[in-house]
Amino acid sequence: MNARVLSGRPVAAAIQSQLSADIDELLRQGKKRQLLIVAATDDPSSASYVRTLQRFGGQTGVTVTVADLGPDASEIDIRTVLETASADENVHGIILQTPLPDGASISGLGSAIAVEKDVDGANPASLTRLLAGEACFAPATAAAVVELLDHYEVGLAGRPISVVGRSLVVGKPLLHLLLNRDATVTVAHSRTADLAAATGTAAVVVAAAGRAGLIRAAHVAQGSVVIDVGTNFDDAGALVGDVEAGSVGAVAAALSPVPGGVGAVTTALLFRNTVYGLPDPSGSPSLPAAAGAVL
Ligand SMILES: NC(=O)c1ccc[n+]([C@@H]2O[C@H](COP(=O)([O-])OP(=O)(O)OC[C@H]3O[C@@H](n4cnc5c(N)ncnc54)[C@H](OP(=O)(O)O)[C@@H]3O)[C@@H](O)[C@H]2O)c1
Repeated sequence: MNARVLSGRPVAAAIQSQLSADIDELLRQGKKRQLLIVAATDDPSSASYVRTLQRFGGQTGVTVTVADLGPDASEIDIRTVLETASADENVHGIILQTPLPDGASISGLGSAIAVEKDVDGANPASLTRLLAGEACFAPATAAAVVELLDHYEVGLAGRPISVVGRSLVVGKPLLHLLLNRDATVTVAHSRTADLAAATGTAAVVVAAAGRAGLIRAAHVAQGSVVIDVGTNFDDAGALVGDVEAGSVGAVAAALSPVPGGVGAVTTALLFRNTVYGLPDPSGSPSLPAAAGAVL
């Protein structure tokens, strides 16, 4: 593979080190920061991600609390916990884990998370704000793609960028984050007739389809930058992205790995959003504004 590897690890480490310093200062002032994770599932990958968040919180000085309601929780139970936490001044960020019990939906329950604590952009009101260009938290994975591109100084303004996937958690918010940065964006999806035509001339391709090996050399332009958001498991149980790294890496100039790419940055952004909150509309934030928060 000739492509430069756009690792998310140094990006996450830089965010974590800034956070640790600022948290130390906040703790000296007697101010704690707390992230609440609400889970209503026994899915092992959710449990594993919760452990990742707990570890990051422990290393950073952010209190991570888990409200584990179990897979049989009712929608009302979950909503009550989200509403109580939204009103609790000791909680600064709230994440609702998926999958949810049958009958409950992230779009339905997301509205119970106060917009200023909605660090993963689950409340439809956060997406509305994103579309309007108002202060909000975008879904952290979408924001992590932009953070990764910015870290490696990949230009966005005026450039053709192709996003593969149109979900509410990745593709659609990423479209708007990129539009807000003056990129010219194409969004492909499962009904796109000619995927290679939609991606093959883009300066940047973002793969977020959840299909292992979907993006191959024929889908990307020589010298392009490819960001792999996908998380899939191959037949041997190994975590792989949507991009066939071997063939694409021979054509692209740069490629983000899976694991160790977008996912690492996503975790760091959830904490950055929790620690700094939304930008102060008065324009005088006491701490740096969080990425993923859009003005
Ligand atoms: N690294 C992280 O932090 C992180 C976070 C979230 C998600 N992810 C991963 O990112 C991937 C996408 O997640 P998601 O929640 O957005 O998934 P999703 O809700 O299943 O959406 C997948 C999108 O990809 C499109 N798609 C599926 N097959 C396609 C194909 N053959 N050609 C073109 N487009 C295709 C779908 O099109 P239609 O709309 O037409 O169905 C849909 O818009 C998954 O692998 C997920 O695990 C990673």
